[in-house]
Amino acid sequence: MTFDRIIRGATVVTGDDARICDIGIAQGRIAALGLALDDTGAEVIEAAGLIALPGGIDSHVHISQPSGPGVVMADDFDSATRAAAFGGNTTVMPFCLPREGETLREAVASYVKLAEGNCHIDAAIHLIVKSTDPVTLGQDLPALYATGFTSFKVFMTYADMALSDRQILEVLKVAKELGAAVMVHAENEDAIEYLRDEAERKGETDPKMHARTRPVPVEREATHRALSLAQIAGVPITIVHVSNGEALDEIRRARLRGQVVHAETCPQYLTLTADDLDRAGFEGAKYVCSPPPRDTAAQADCWAGIELGDFDLYSSDHCPFRFADPEGKDAPGARASFRNIPNGIPGVETRLPILFSEGVVKGRISLPHFARITATNHARLYGLAPRKGMIAVGADADIVLWDPTITRTITQSELHHGADYTPWEGFAVTGWPVATFLRGEPLIRDGVLLAEGRGGVIDCGQPDLRALP
Ligand code: URP
Ligand code: ZN
Ligand code: ZN
Ligand code: ZN
Repeated sequence: MTFDRIIRGATVVTGDDARICDIGIAQGRIAALGLALDDTGAEVIEAAGLIALPGGIDSHVHISQPSGPGVVMADDFDSATRAAAFGGNTTVMPFCLPREGETLREAVASYVKLAEGNCHIDAAIHLIVKSTDPVTLGQDLPALYATGFTSFKVFMTYADMALSDRQILEVLKVAKELGAAVMVHAENEDAIEYLRDEAERKGETDPKMHARTRPVPVEREATHRALSLAQIAGVPITIVHVSNGEALDEIRRARLRGQVVHAETCPQYLTLTADDLDRAGFEGAKYVCSPPPRDTAAQADCWAGIELGDFDLYSSDHCPFRFADPEGKDAPGARASFRNIPNGIPGVETRLPILFSEGVVKGRISLPHFARITATNHARLYGLAPRKGMIAVGADADIVLWDPTITRTITQSELHHGADYTPWEGFAVTGWPVATFLRGEPLIRDGVLLAEGRGGVIDCGQPDLRALP
């Protein structure tokens, strides 16, 4: 057997195992795993002391998503996939959101055009279902499913996107017929609107009120309701960006009833708190995202959920808005009320280093566990396996080499995203991705992007909706 490239001597994380071996790469795929592979004619990458992990799959990122009037998302496909690559990822999954008056199929066509030629890693696209008219449900979703768009996101909050319970049931019915995956953003819109109006009436308009008007019961109740709707419809669902133990307990109870539920959490719920939204000088706006970060007890509950394997997915929910943009987080409207602060924080580049350092280095999770919740499970659930998400013979050679000894302090000036800040400024981490291979070709080496535009839009196959191991 001859190889184009051999990664020699790394600790290779495969399935449930981590062992020192060589990775033989041919024609963009992993062709062999073994000791002392024959390197005749192959480029050899010496990787002793490094850890080889499947390239990260960040299945929850927002890129060039239409936002409020005048509000511009800080990342397009170029900057988002560049930042993702530097953060050890080889696939991202952003969301296609139709504009006013646009059908879902039209929206997908123009979103794919935005992506094509501008991706430095691969991108697979989720569909946001914000209307349930007969064309969307009866024609667009089935047609799109058949062409590789097999996962849908529904929202229970945000005035312009929230679906009623009935509408969610209608989407779940279509998803069941198709076999699509459904992600739910679970927060109670009516309760949030009531609490916001109350806060504004009292003149309480600071960024910290964003968290206070989206308290834990808002998320816990909506999580319970989403799970009940899924039980009624008889379909698995994924609860995304779970921020606290009470919402996670609802998921555990649903699983005990026999429901298949997938659960996702994000770095912000493991490392930030609502106190960050109360930082001086309007800096708190930099931490406004939904659901909001909670308190240290909720953080501990989310860590327990990771350690116990209750979270299948660890994603960034990268949703970048600049602080200093005309309609950004520090705009006059945002200063007037927390209600107008664009929702979301950047995190696609820092997701993996944060979990590697806080999770693996601190001994909370094993390397195989890290690989599952950062890559393998994403690939399985969203129909990208067995091509993506695993270091296994036959899979795409999407591989990231980590140096577990590097210590770094996260700082905006060294990141590649389009945002003008990072919520993790000054956060110290141990371990950093030092080399990335995309479909077998070197993509990043020692802090340099070696090839531009080598990624592309990839189709999702049939989701694997079974409970993940
Ligand atoms: O604040 C957030 N997370 N904005 C992004 C949209 C979403 O709900 O995922
Ligand atoms: Zn969401
Ligand atoms: Zn999101
Ligand atoms: Zn699971």
